[in-house]
Amino acid sequence: MERILSGLRPTGKLHLGHYHGVLTNFIKLQDAYECYFFVADIHALTTNYAVTGDIQSSVVQMLADWIAVGINPDKAAIFIQSAIPQHTELHTLLSMITPLGWLERVPSYKEKLSEETPSDLHTYGFLGYPLLMASDILIYKAHKVPIGEDQLAHLEFTREIARRFNHLYAPVFPEPQPLLTSAPKVPGTDGRKMSKSYDNCLYLSDPPDIISKKILTMVTDPHRIRRTDKGNPDLCPVYDLHKLHTPPDKRQEIDTGCRTAGIGCVECKKVVIEEINTLLAPIREKREKLVQQPELLTAIVEQGNRKASAFAAATIEEVKKAIRIIYDFGTTGL
Ligand code: TRP
Ligand code: SF4
Repeated sequence: MERILSGLRPTGKLHLGHYHGVLTNFIKLQDAYECYFFVADIHALTTNYAVTGDIQSSVVQMLADWIAVGINPDKAAIFIQSAIPQHTELHTLLSMITPLGWLERVPSYKEKLSEETPSDLHTYGFLGYPLLMASDILIYKAHKVPIGEDQLAHLEFTREIARRFNHLYAPVFPEPQPLLTSAPKVPGTDGRKMSKSYDNCLYLSDPPDIISKKILTMVTDPHRIRRTDKGNPDLCPVYDLHKLHTPPDKRQEIDTGCRTAGIGCVECKKVVIEEINTLLAPIREKREKLVQQPELLTAIVEQGNRKASAFAAATIEEVKKAIRIIYDFGTTGL
């Protein structure tokens, strides 16, 4: 079976954008591949090194969401980057063969440096972000990496590093290919892309009344001001939520109702609130169980850490052999 690896930086509790963009994809992949999914907590330090108090709860929240949506620890290894020291060990070893120019020309590097950010990002760690990501991928000899468009340059960089290592020492690493995840449009309550930084999210852990409240205040087709105005679903973010959650026949009715002013926005919103709450009910329930019994989460992560650790240790062994920094004093001779 081919191996897949993917990581997410710990950003706290996950929202519907993550669900449709990343998590449903992980759930599908876990049946077809040997999957390694991890929380990239060291990557969080590349930008947030000065304020680290939130990382712990972010990691726990995220893991709880993963399990609650159905990522299955008996299928996929679920683990935490910092628990597997071989990621950073490989990072150091690969740093020796990484030309500075390769890192400096990764597009996200310059972009981020030019943005206004609260912390100073002229650091060794931030420059090395893509190399740490390459180490995450190569340590599991991953064949495929499910990522969004924004991470493609990092994967290209990873392939270049793999090629360089294989050429200099020995053919240890497969060149990982991207599995581009089509990111569906998931609008937040203000109509912009759902994102924590916009404060417009529907969280997987939101209780039903919060979901209801958030959607009832959500922006709609801006031209539909009065109940008697005809609307256009193509211009309405609420309708984008219908596309993701409402069965086609019911959705068609809403489309027609909106265009003819046959239904009002409140009525329309109530339908999608119902659909989203139905989707989230079992997720909330499972999540609640994990909150009540944190030892379940501990056991899941320990199981994942063990599996990841075994694989990573074997790769490091091979890497050191290839570089020739494994010693046997009996046969090397004094
Ligand atoms: N850089 C990725 C992001 O920001 C997170 C990440 C870290 C990752 N290591 C990875 C993704 C390895 C895929 C594979 O989303
Ligand atoms: Fe949007 Fe629904 Fe109102 Fe039409 S009826 S504008 S789809 S909220």
